[in-house]
Amino acid sequence: MEIKEASQGARIRLERIHDLIEEVGQYQLIEQQKDDLGIDTKSSEMDLVTRVDKESERVISAWIMENYPDDGILGEEGTEHNPEAAYQWVVDPVDGTNNYAQRFPIFGISVGIKFRKVGVGGIVHIPALKEWFIGVKGEGATLNGKTIQVGDKTELIHCLAGTGFPYDKGTNERNNLREVSTLIPQIRGLRRTGSAAFDLCCVACGRFDFFWEMTLKEWDIAAACVILEEAGAVWKIYQEEREISIVAGNSTLVQKLMPILTDSTL
Ligand code: IPD
Ligand code: CA
Ligand code: CA
Repeated sequence: MEIKEASQGARIRLERIHDLIEEVGQYQLIEQQKDDLGIDTKSSEMDLVTRVDKESERVISAWIMENYPDDGILGEEGTEHNPEAAYQWVVDPVDGTNNYAQRFPIFGISVGIKFRKVGVGGIVHIPALKEWFIGVKGEGATLNGKTIQVGDKTELIHCLAGTGFPYDKGTNERNNLREVSTLIPQIRGLRRTGSAAFDLCCVACGRFDFFWEMTLKEWDIAAACVILEEAGAVWKIYQEEREISIVAGNSTLVQKLMPILTDSTL
């Protein structure tokens, strides 16, 4: 199957799952107001999961299995289904769980679609902001239905950037602090929203000029990478040793940032 056909398949899948994601987002907002969020820790005391992460992934995966039983699913909270299938859904049911657990409103649902390992579609929905970032390969990227485009700044000093920190930041000295202290004096501002999928979408729509973070996982970036590409942004993996270390922005900025982020003397 051509990538063009695969993109059409992704578009149809995203259109069909849209209402379910909206329902899951509403459920997350309602649950977030409750006293007990069922909070647990995962890889470290800094890495949380809640009852809502698990239930959201269960509901999204059940819908996919019912509607597209031959597709594969990779979900952050443990779903692995048909790993050899051509179409793969990559699901982060709550991106920004630390925010969610603190009742901070920046968190989202990220659903990416790959066809033979190529990203062909993605939705990132931020329920509290009522924002929908959608990208389909070859068909563009939108925020609430309006076409989005990466920013066009070329000088670091004019840039507002985003970043994030790994969950092992207390025990691993490669924890992004050196990169931050190198870049902060060179840029206009730095933000840490707590949701990498949202951060990357903020690059796609020009709110952020660039974003970088190490130790991300497939589910953090799968949807947003398609949205970025379709918004004219460039993303690159800037190092191999700390899971997914990504930098995204327009091509000029990414070209300027690569030597800084890969500088071994940092
Ligand atoms: C996390 C968020 C956060 C980033 C972490 C991610 P989670 O995802 O995207 O912004 O700094 O690296 O793991 O755990 O909330 O789904
Ligand atoms: Ca995540
Ligand atoms: Ca998550």
